[in-house]
Amino acid sequence: MKYDFTFHNPTKIYFGKDSLNNLEIELKKYGKRILFVYGGGSIKKNGIYDKVIAILKKCEKEVFECKDVLPNPALTKMLEGAKMIKDNDIDFILAVGGGSVIDCAKGMSAAAYYEGDDVFKSYWINREPLQDTKMVPIGTVLTMVGTGSEMDAGSVISDTVNKIKAGRALFNPDFSILNPEFTFTCSKYQMVSGIFDCMSHLMEQYFSGDDDNTSDYIIESLYKSVVHSARIAVQNPTDYEARSNIMWCSSLALCGIPGKSKTQDWEVHGIEHQLSAYTNCAHGMGLCAISMPYYRYIYKFGLHKFVRFAKEIWKVDATGKTDEQVALEGIDCMEKFAKECGMITTLKELGATPEMLPDIANSSRESGGYKKITHAEILEILKQCYE
Ligand code: NZQ
Ligand code: ZN
Repeated sequence: MKYDFTFHNPTKIYFGKDSLNNLEIELKKYGKRILFVYGGGSIKKNGIYDKVIAILKKCEKEVFECKDVLPNPALTKMLEGAKMIKDNDIDFILAVGGGSVIDCAKGMSAAAYYEGDDVFKSYWINREPLQDTKMVPIGTVLTMVGTGSEMDAGSVISDTVNKIKAGRALFNPDFSILNPEFTFTCSKYQMVSGIFDCMSHLMEQYFSGDDDNTSDYIIESLYKSVVHSARIAVQNPTDYEARSNIMWCSSLALCGIPGKSKTQDWEVHGIEHQLSAYTNCAHGMGLCAISMPYYRYIYKFGLHKFVRFAKEIWKVDATGKTDEQVALEGIDCMEKFAKECGMITTLKELGATPEMLPDIANSSRESGGYKKITHAEILEILKQCYE
């Protein structure tokens, strides 16, 4: 752990089948006026909406609803929620959904009392420090697993007019309620998309640096657990133990611990955000399609780590093979696993067209990885994963 660091994660987690029981206790800590933020309707179909409303009523809260926060949440929706917060003097935000709902709720809070003309430009594009203005606290009930937004400060928002999707750290939820059974109604497509998102968060923290860091061992353990449980969940989506393992791995993957004291490589996320600005694809599927050609291009610059990945995670037998062969075999194993799970591995399937690729390659280059790549290199990688 050779680089200094500070670690503080203030989110209280309630985990398990009965975890929603704790919502009442938590809500009592806040004022009466609640903004209830949710998505396009899944919580109404699976009964979570009714359960949450019953608790809000029992706590005698005055509820304002901000619904239809859709995947890859739009700036316009965020500003609509921010206005509701200010106009109604909201005391607390309850976000019930996946990463999109939670990210957007954080953004609403940050934007509500922002003083200036363009909150998106200031906070998300220029990543300016947060103003010392009021931020309404947030709690979450998680229904879709993968992003880690329930236990991190991240907020990723899309300016759909200018085709810019940008993320930044805002602030953590005060608490998050994680009931694995609430994720059972997610489609297999969304489930495996979230699984690859978690895998990608782990890899992007792993594939950087050549030091002997405890964080790398933590990452390997989480990665093995998520791959193991994914195989079970794909066969049986209601296997509680598998779904709960995946849920906890996803929260841990981005809670700050696995990347401590490490340089990191967030290039794949940078490219994916630009990809979904153009295609509105599911985040994890975009990451999956980009990852295979990206890592096949990058591995030679961090060979030792890719050999370790192949041996430790995918149990590649190195006997009689060169390091290059072992490293590539590890990436092949990951691709085989992704295909077995039904993940998407080409950009064409995600709705990209060849004409979009040069613009998608204009992603913000976030690499702290083994190789700083240029626009031309990203374009070449995108062509490799096109079909
Ligand atoms: O909108 P509803 O009707 O609720 O349907 C959602 C949505 O269509 C559905 N869903 C969620 N829970 C469900 C369910 N359907 C049935 N049963 C349930 N229990 O799933 C669909 C996808 O939801 P979404 O929230 O968009 O997925 P995800 O959690 O993958 O979030 C993706 C967003 O998070 C950002 C991504 O860029 C993307 O915008 N990220 C946020 C991060 C962070 N805060 O730190 C980091 C990540 O790397 C990522 O960038
Ligand atoms: Zn992600």
